[in-house]
Amino acid sequence: MSTHHEIKRVTTHTLQSMKVQGEQISMLTAYDFSMATILDEAGIDVLLVGDSASNVMAGHETTLPITLDQMIYHAQSVVRACKRCLVIVDLPFGSYQGNSKEALNSAIRIMKEAGAHGIKLEGGAEVIESIKRIVGAGVPVMGHLGLTPQSIYKFGTYTVRAKEEEEAEILINNAMALQEAGCFSIVLEKIPASLGTEVANQLKIPIIGIGAGGGVDGQVLVMHDMLGITKNFSPRFLRRYLNLYEDITDATKQYINDVKTGDFPNEKEQY
Ligand code: KIV
Repeated sequence: MSTHHEIKRVTTHTLQSMKVQGEQISMLTAYDFSMATILDEAGIDVLLVGDSASNVMAGHETTLPITLDQMIYHAQSVVRACKRCLVIVDLPFGSYQGNSKEALNSAIRIMKEAGAHGIKLEGGAEVIESIKRIVGAGVPVMGHLGLTPQSIYKFGTYTVRAKEEEEAEILINNAMALQEAGCFSIVLEKIPASLGTEVANQLKIPIIGIGAGGGVDGQVLVMHDMLGITKNFSPRFLRRYLNLYEDITDATKQYINDVKTGDFPNEKEQY
């Protein structure tokens, strides 16, 4: 008798069934092996190797500077860690906007070199041709509408999107077009809750929200925000589950003190 316990992998089909059955989808970002191991073993459904790595890992002000090579490096580390969850990787700014062939090549590099399970890209009508081409090559694509951080210099602010009826209507049409083009899911960022609910109700594919209210099919947060590692970012949609900034500061101060006073290492901590 085998004692080997098979872990059932979350797939895009699992997410679709969850929507049909009314089970909420849990998603977080991850960028490295150690954290991804913990999140996967805790039972997260989806890990997103987000281009927010540009902010939280590299310290850039926006998501624009991160490169495809850097995203692949982060993705490789996360994929190595995950035994159960679905791993989706952001196509970074500049790796897909040129044309659909460039978009396909970038998606293929992520799938081939990182072993990811799918990609995410930002935008509506302007990326439909690229989505069709990537999906046509057998790569699952997640869309991203509402606040799209790669376009920050076009919009100028990180405020709530689609509050006006005209913009809300464009967002709904774009969501429909993404579904039609073959996206398996869409992230909606920072939009009114009523609009999030409307999109989730109208579309067949799972809608994952970040600041899109409780009427969507799942939630995503940036891991560093949710664990309280970042401290100067407090949008209304963020719930902090830990205050790691303070905890790590306290632990580091304690360590410094122990080293300086000669308390560390003690007899049992040496050979
Ligand atoms: O890059 C990222 O972290 C994201 C999430 C905010 C959805 O795209």
